[in-house]
Amino acid sequence: MNKNHKQGNSNVLFLFHLFILQLISGIMSISSQAEMYGIQRVSEAVAVTLREMRSFARPGISTYELDMYGKSLLEGFGAASAPYKTYGFPGYTCISVNNEIAHGIPDKRKILQEGDLVNIDVSAELDGFWADNGGSFVLGEDIHGHEPLVDASKRILKLALAQIKAGMKIAELGRIIQTEARKSGFKVIKNLVGHGVGRSLHEEPKEIPCYFDRYNTKRFKRNSVVAIETFISTGTSFARDKGDGWTFITGDGSFVAQHEHTIMITDKQPIIFTEANGILA
Ligand code: CO
Ligand code: CO
Repeated sequence: MNKNHKQGNSNVLFLFHLFILQLISGIMSISSQAEMYGIQRVSEAVAVTLREMRSFARPGISTYELDMYGKSLLEGFGAASAPYKTYGFPGYTCISVNNEIAHGIPDKRKILQEGDLVNIDVSAELDGFWADNGGSFVLGEDIHGHEPLVDASKRILKLALAQIKAGMKIAELGRIIQTEARKSGFKVIKNLVGHGVGRSLHEEPKEIPCYFDRYNTKRFKRNSVVAIETFISTGTSFARDKGDGWTFITGDGSFVAQHEHTIMITDKQPIIFTEANGILA
């Protein structure tokens, strides 16, 4: 017992040092089973919420109704909506339709239509852990021909996740995403980015762009938690403000698809915490 006690003290000291290191670096880096469990739980909450919202979406319902459904799902997990809680966003999930790219505000007057390009993004906090995920899809029949864009975004996220590992330059991942988008005849949005996540919604690394940013010399760190997201565009390379204080739009009539997973970087394949959302299926 005494021997164990001594061992316990040095373990506590070790964990304390890790904790201080994390505070200094501002990176969520998983160093214990408890942290692993915490990030898994919140990831499950946002992933299942996203998946269920996607199957609940249908022509004729408003984005407000869809958001209220998402709110009830998050509450069922005991999770708090990140945008609502942290930023005072007027909704619980972000629902962006057609020429909207991100941070679309749920609205009773916004009625979903057959063939709409819909993006749902769900991020939440549970017991001090945060996770983020999102995905674009075509509602019902693809009468406007958005499917190639959605498919390209999914394929590119899959490819990015297959390449990402500890030590890789963040700029290199951007190069891969940009190159693949170009090959498919698409562009990338340059002013919306992936980010570190875990102990808050947005943490270091603050910017994981979808293009090769030669000024970004940072590398992905082992055991760090990040949200990787694509922003694949049919036209514009820059998201603009809609003017409502939240929504990003294309502004030129083009369309953007986004797919996002919360993952942990390893030396091999990443651990995809939000896999249950089924966005890449
Ligand atoms: Co997100
Ligand atoms: Co995100």
